[in-house]
Amino acid sequence: MVSKLLIFSALFSLALAKPTARSMKVRESRQNVPAGFVRTGAAAPDTELKLRIALVQSDPEGLVDALYAVSTPGSASYGEHLSKEEVEKFVTPTAQSSEAVDAWLQQVGLSATAISPAGDWLSVSVPVSKANEIFDADFAVYTHSETGKQAIRTMSYSIPDALEGHLDFVHPTISFPSPKGLRPVISTPDNLQNRAIEPLATCSTTAVTPACIQSIYGIPSTKATQKTNGLGVSGFIDQFANSADLKTFLSKFRTDLAGTTFALQTLDGGSNSQTPSQAGIEANLDIQYTVGVASGVPVTFISVGNNFQDGDLGGFLDIINFLLGESNPPQVLTTSYGDNESDISRSLANNLCNAYAQLGARGTSILFASGDGGVSGGQSQSCTKFVPTFPSGCPFMTSVGATQLTSSSGAETAATFSSGGFSNYFGIPSYQSSVVSSYLSSIGSTNSGKFNTSGRAFPDVAAIGVDLEIVVDGRTETVDGTSCSSPVFSSVISLINDALIAEGKSPLGFLNPFLYANPSAFNDITTGDNPGCNTNGFKAAKGWDPVTGLGTPNFAKLKAAAGV
Ligand SMILES: *[C@@H]1O[C@H](CO)[C@@H](O)[C@H](O)[C@H]1NC(C)=O
Ligand SMILES: *[C@@H]1O[C@H](CO)[C@@H](O)[C@H](O)[C@H]1NC(C)=O
Repeated sequence: MVSKLLIFSALFSLALAKPTARSMKVRESRQNVPAGFVRTGAAAPDTELKLRIALVQSDPEGLVDALYAVSTPGSASYGEHLSKEEVEKFVTPTAQSSEAVDAWLQQVGLSATAISPAGDWLSVSVPVSKANEIFDADFAVYTHSETGKQAIRTMSYSIPDALEGHLDFVHPTISFPSPKGLRPVISTPDNLQNRAIEPLATCSTTAVTPACIQSIYGIPSTKATQKTNGLGVSGFIDQFANSADLKTFLSKFRTDLAGTTFALQTLDGGSNSQTPSQAGIEANLDIQYTVGVASGVPVTFISVGNNFQDGDLGGFLDIINFLLGESNPPQVLTTSYGDNESDISRSLANNLCNAYAQLGARGTSILFASGDGGVSGGQSQSCTKFVPTFPSGCPFMTSVGATQLTSSSGAETAATFSSGGFSNYFGIPSYQSSVVSSYLSSIGSTNSGKFNTSGRAFPDVAAIGVDLEIVVDGRTETVDGTSCSSPVFSSVISLINDALIAEGKSPLGFLNPFLYANPSAFNDITTGDNPGCNTNGFKAAKGWDPVTGLGTPNFAKLKAAAGV
């Protein structure tokens, strides 16, 4: 029965196949529909698809070389960050590529709009029938069984031979949306405790405040002075940062900063509703532990709405393209959202990682929470192999894991949820290769086969992430998550940038070569682990480890290492 059906459909598609006057090559394909999705029917031929076309960038290797040259201490051009135009030179497709793609667009009767500052991304609107024809594709409707989420995707597509080396890839095609959307990496609501706690000047193992964080890491409370310094806090999925809650938070925990506010930028139809009940736990946490720790540094909440231009990336690429379009992007950007690496196609992951390299070359430090599922990914889930998170596998950003206090004097251990591990998409960068190989030899065959020993390892660093007091909708609560850690570490970097800028020096920019060159500027975390996938995960250890990275910041030592 089954085989007859197969034969029938094979004949049928043969009969429909058009004579091919052109020569096409498969550009991307996937073997299986991702778990949870099923094909539920053909897509209506006249449905308009909004496809994005990535052109081959003129010199991505040159960009990466330039990034390392300006970010590696000791290099002749250390700190000489690139201008917008200099970065765009590496990224803008060659005239040959643009002409080839333009000629093809004209031939197939499509008009495109550039959606990135360097013109390496184009957007086209095309009906399903035509997309199937020009890409030898089979766009169909796929439905996620659990959530009902639908997406029109194809299992493979081809491009004309003449576009090889010019057209990089088309999106969304073979990558599927994350069924539940981007998720904040915060252990809520389960761990959200509803309680009112008095402001504490010192630390307690059940309530962490800005004053506690300042005391354990030696972060000064003196106000930063530089107006050109900027700390960007990204917001997604209608998580709003509430100004009244910030005011309450400061009045309880940073009376010396009373009245400090944040600026707002929006893209993709983003907004920042101030309705108290719409205050987002993630957004409030991120704003309160940047404004409240990076004393006096100008903070901007960048709210990305739901009209994404970047398809399945949920705005991750849009926010970077938005900042790349600015002449003075913030010197630090913190993000507490993430995904499973495997949910994103390699082409897309590469492209986004390359966008981080562009912004890093401009002098922006890009920090992300590493995830809250230990070795099982962004959130705890069942698994047999370890699940690396995205974008922590990208070598051109800084991934921040979490710790928790073991005593009120400030001793720390790894937080059990702190995600860490090894990318399956990106190879190990040289700045971490020696510390990572030391770690790997120290664990022998533990967990062998469950992770990729040649992948980029994360997190890079850590910061406190358990029992931080925040104010949401007027109430004081405590939250856990690497979502706490990224804003805290970002604040440290912003305060060091303030001192650098005050002396007429460059901000730190892409951090990792600097961080790995200064391991002694960290409080090494040597206890705890990050269980998941029915294992104990990795153990924290002396030196770098895939739970807490190099450790938590020692402000004075990091600042001295930065030369201020
Ligand atoms: C990650 O993938 C697993 C299945 O492999 C899925 O259960 C989980 O929901 C995914 N996580 C996210 C954040 O999408
Ligand atoms: C392991 O990582 C390397 C380096 O990024 C990659 O090329 C390889 O495909 C990965 N292996 C698997 C099984 O994912």
